[in-house]
Amino acid sequence: MPTGQLKIPAIDIEQTLRENEQFLKLIIDTEPECVKLLDRDGSLLMMNRAGLEMIEAENFEMVKGGKVHELVDPEYRDDFINLIRAAFEGNAGELVFKITGLKGRRLWLESHAVPLRNEQGAIISMLAITRDITIRKQALEALADKQQQLEMLNSSLEQRISQAVSEIRLKDRMMIQQNRQAAMGEMINNIAHQWRQPLNNLGLILQSIEKSFSSGNLREEELRTDVHSSMDIIKFMSHTIDDFRNFFRPDKQLHMFRLKDAVQLALKFVSADLQYQRIAVDMDIHEDVYANGYPNEYAQVVLNILGNARDALAANDISKPFIRIEGGTEGGIAVLRMRDNGGGIGEDIIERIFDPYFSTKGEDKGTGIGLYMSKVIIENNMKGRLTVCNINGGAEFRIEIPAHPSKS
Ligand SMILES: Nc1ncnc2c1ncn2[C@@H]1O[C@H](COP(=O)(O)OP(=O)(O)OP(=O)(O)O)[C@@H](O)[C@H]1O
Ligand SMILES: [Mg+2]
Repeated sequence: MPTGQLKIPAIDIEQTLRENEQFLKLIIDTEPECVKLLDRDGSLLMMNRAGLEMIEAENFEMVKGGKVHELVDPEYRDDFINLIRAAFEGNAGELVFKITGLKGRRLWLESHAVPLRNEQGAIISMLAITRDITIRKQALEALADKQQQLEMLNSSLEQRISQAVSEIRLKDRMMIQQNRQAAMGEMINNIAHQWRQPLNNLGLILQSIEKSFSSGNLREEELRTDVHSSMDIIKFMSHTIDDFRNFFRPDKQLHMFRLKDAVQLALKFVSADLQYQRIAVDMDIHEDVYANGYPNEYAQVVLNILGNARDALAANDISKPFIRIEGGTEGGIAVLRMRDNGGGIGEDIIERIFDPYFSTKGEDKGTGIGLYMSKVIIENNMKGRLTVCNINGGAEFRIEIPAHPSKS
């Protein structure tokens, strides 16, 4: 190959170099990210168009030789200077920082910096490519903001829920008390019923004492016997009062009680009334069924159910009215079944009888909180179950609560 062909004229080399340089400049200026060269002291050696736009400079002459780090927010300035230092020590690095442009616009930027070396390997400047990440940052900040709001909302929601729950609990407890006090009116009626007989007996004894005394036949022994029987009667009457008084005291602590005792306590309050209405009560509860719970509240439930049975029996004018109560344990559960023959509960309302204020009795007769309260007492306070079904022309209520482990 002839050597003359390898020779390229000098003019062509310069031309090519110029063309290449321009081509490179075009590429750099077209690049959408900021490309810049910084000197060791941070002064600007070169910056492309995208970079000038980022810092709001009209042209390169405006900022040539200026210190870019002066635009960087003070809190990131040291890191920025360190980035330059590291580059001149031969290390690449990156930094996320904030700047304020020459016209005051604030941006979040992300820079990747590398040392730029000459042909001999000496570092001559720092080359940095910087990207505007303001939108991403703002989105992240907005997200963090929302997250914080959500967390606050969450925690206040939890607080509000627990407050609402405790308010409901308090309301329920107040209703239990109210329901018990509503029963008080009926109780006084029952005391009157229960006292009628013993008061009558006391009157008879006193009359006979007076008679014997008037006729001069009052013997000491007769007097002693009469006084003794009178004391028994008075004791019985005072017992009734004690029972009533205890019943109105709310149970404070969960404790073991005998199912039969709680049922008998409830029965005591209505027995006179039931007798008066000729309602036969038949009770069959195993002696050794014990449960853990609140006996007075349990008795209150039994009382509500008895009262409802009595009302149904009376309203439907049943010829041989009865209430049957059976109790026992079934697999660790103390179960009480109370059945009447009062006609049962309409299938159209049976789903609603435990709702608060549901009553079919008319305003002055029923408030409709009896069964609602009973359900709260059994299911919330004693972790049991209260259910109902119709059976043989009547309603049957079933109360289940945990039996006392050692006694069941
Ligand atoms: N044994 C029953 N037989 C027929 N219906 C019943 C029986 N027990 C309850 N009910 C029905 O369920 C309804 C709700 O009973 P609940 O005890 O909650 O309220 P109430 O007796 O009407 O009023 P109170 O608040 O005075 O008890 C009653 O109105 C009645 O219609
Ligand atoms: Mg009722």
